[in-house]
Amino acid sequence: MGSELIYRGHDTQPASDSYSPKPVKPWVSVSRPIRYMLREQRLLFVLVGIGIATLIFTVFPSSRAPHVPHHHFATSIADSITYFPRETQNKFSYPHRVGFGSANPTGKIPLGLKRKGLRIVVTGGAGFVGSHLVDRLIDRGDKVIVVDNFFTGRKENVLHHFGNPNFELIRHDVVEPLLLEVDQIYHLACPASPVHYKFNPVKTIKTNVVGTLNMLGLAKRVGARFLLTSTSEVYGDPLQHPQKETYWGNVNPIGVRSCYDEGKRTAETLTMDYHRGAGVEVRIARIFNTYGPRMCIDDGRVVSNFVAQALRKEPLTVYGDGKQTRSFQYVFDLVEGLMRLMEGEHVGPFNLGNPGEFTMLELAEVVQETIDPNAKIEFRPNTEDDPHKRKPDISRAKELLGWEPKVSLRKGLPLMVSDFRQRIFGDHKEGSNTNNASSS
Ligand SMILES: NC(=O)c1ccc[n+]([C@@H]2O[C@H](COP(=O)([O-])OP(=O)(O)OC[C@H]3O[C@@H](n4cnc5c(N)ncnc54)[C@H](O)[C@@H]3O)[C@@H](O)[C@H]2O)c1
Repeated sequence: MGSELIYRGHDTQPASDSYSPKPVKPWVSVSRPIRYMLREQRLLFVLVGIGIATLIFTVFPSSRAPHVPHHHFATSIADSITYFPRETQNKFSYPHRVGFGSANPTGKIPLGLKRKGLRIVVTGGAGFVGSHLVDRLIDRGDKVIVVDNFFTGRKENVLHHFGNPNFELIRHDVVEPLLLEVDQIYHLACPASPVHYKFNPVKTIKTNVVGTLNMLGLAKRVGARFLLTSTSEVYGDPLQHPQKETYWGNVNPIGVRSCYDEGKRTAETLTMDYHRGAGVEVRIARIFNTYGPRMCIDDGRVVSNFVAQALRKEPLTVYGDGKQTRSFQYVFDLVEGLMRLMEGEHVGPFNLGNPGEFTMLELAEVVQETIDPNAKIEFRPNTEDDPHKRKPDISRAKELLGWEPKVSLRKGLPLMVSDFRQRIFGDHKEGSNTNNASSS
């Protein structure tokens, strides 16, 4: 077999028999060394050329050379340059951000390289807190995609962004998976008031667990940074006062509020597991009671209840003896804290709340002062699992995020009252921007 193959190999070379080399020209033997020299010279010329070109490109790098990103945030900067029209870039560009991205721990942006927009998803962005966050992100020049199922959110809260090419609204329930190319995910989707989260407790816990899983899965897939809006409710009826982030809480796992409290605790667990197990960049905010324009009227939260009741000339309902305490943070302060957390280098959890503590009766007095000094107070039996005390220790946020609330209750409440007045008495113009109040 082997010899056969060798034999066939000989068959394939019939041309060798007919091969006849060209006659050797007489000058070839003389020119061979010259040709050799020339060939060598050519090589030399090529090497010298490469050297000169390298020198030129090193000393004068081309301004058109593409910037090689260090991490995915840098990619988004490059993307945004082509994505946003020039006039929008100018309008929305902002000079710097601090502490952004793990590959740039100092957060310093090289001189002349302004950060443009990021692509950001805000789940629950049509709700109370989400819509104010969207306003800030759009103002800053980011491209924002709101994902909301409108369970408690309203299109009116974001109507003023319709038509803006940097804004998109998707009606979607976060318990279903979603694929988007984004740089950051602010995950807010979840009913926040007891009236709404107790309405369908199974759906509430599903939103917290499955919804958070879906958004963490998205963050992992596209390499986005993920921020969870957790709650002070993870401390339950706290045995420590004020509450530090290191406190593990005192939560009833089988009560009527558990769908929310335990749902958020599980969402925190999932967030940390994705961080540790899959390397997802995560942030956790524990939000304390927040108030401001665009809150749902009649959602059972104490500030909105009192304001709506006082405006309608109804008695202010105080549950229990009215001595339970809460802290109240104006929504602009919260949004500032969320953005600092997202852009900083610390995972958290961070308490975001106003440490100014008020009893329910003291709050009722401020509402009387602001709206109607003659408003009456009516006492009702307390609801199950209502925590007695709630006050954040915000030293960690102060130290690591450089954040603390700026708006006092007496300053913030009138801003909310004028929004509620417009909405209750019908002189509210659809889509009017209630966000023109200053937080300073
Ligand atoms: N406002 C506060 O005082 C407070 C306190 C602690 C924590 N938080 C947290 O902050 C976040 C925002 O709270 P908020 O006060 O703006 O509440 P909100 O009810 O006004 O907003 C929640 C938004 O999420 C949307 N949503 C609910 N379930 C959804 C689902 N399955 N899929 C898609 N969208 C869904 C709602 O339609 C709404 O727009 C919530 O996660 C809440 O738990 C708020």
